[in-house]
Amino acid sequence: MKKNPDTKIDIVRGDITKLDFDAIVNAANTSLLGGGGVDGAIHRAAGPELLAECRTLGGCQPGEAKITRGYRLPARFVIHTVGPIWRGGKHGEPETLADCYRNSLQLAVENGIKAIAFPAISCGAYGYPIQEAAQIAVKTVRDFLATSGKIDKVIFALWGEDIYDAYRERLKK
Ligand code: APR
Repeated sequence: MKKNPDTKIDIVRGDITKLDFDAIVNAANTSLLGGGGVDGAIHRAAGPELLAECRTLGGCQPGEAKITRGYRLPARFVIHTVGPIWRGGKHGEPETLADCYRNSLQLAVENGIKAIAFPAISCGAYGYPIQEAAQIAVKTVRDFLATSGKIDKVIFALWGEDIYDAYRERLKK
């Protein structure tokens, strides 16, 4: 009997770099060479070896996901994904954002990862409207967990209060 997927989903407020999970997801850019926001926090916490490995990956397309080790992070792996830049919603942003979650989860399964934490991809510098982003994140993760029994836990690690409230509301539905 498949467990209700929602018992596998949780949200926490706080710094994703502190989570001792198999993998944390980075909201990166196409260069994979670091940036601000959660990308900057992850690179700072992981140390220079993370950037050195990222340099070998040849960048990442929006919606795609690539994996590295976590180095000085508590997490064993970092899954780097590139969210869509919000341009009004008519440039495939919803599909690309859903791909970020789906491809990150698929990559986690391929690497035997059981517990994974996501930040609110595209909800910062990339300007994605929070309600819509939360709805896509929760729905995509729920759909994936409903079909794949290989992931035990997905945590949304949320930094801002507005984001936390948006995800909490979505998870109640
Ligand atoms: N832990 C968890 N969440 C965080 C952290 C952290 N340490 N730091 C920031 N956040 C949150 C932000 O508050 C926001 O809600 O992560 C969410 C995503 O925001 P960004 O990090 O700005 O990511 P994004 O909107 O996807 O923009 C990506 O910004 O940092 C650059 O290199 C990155 O060019 C890329 C772009």
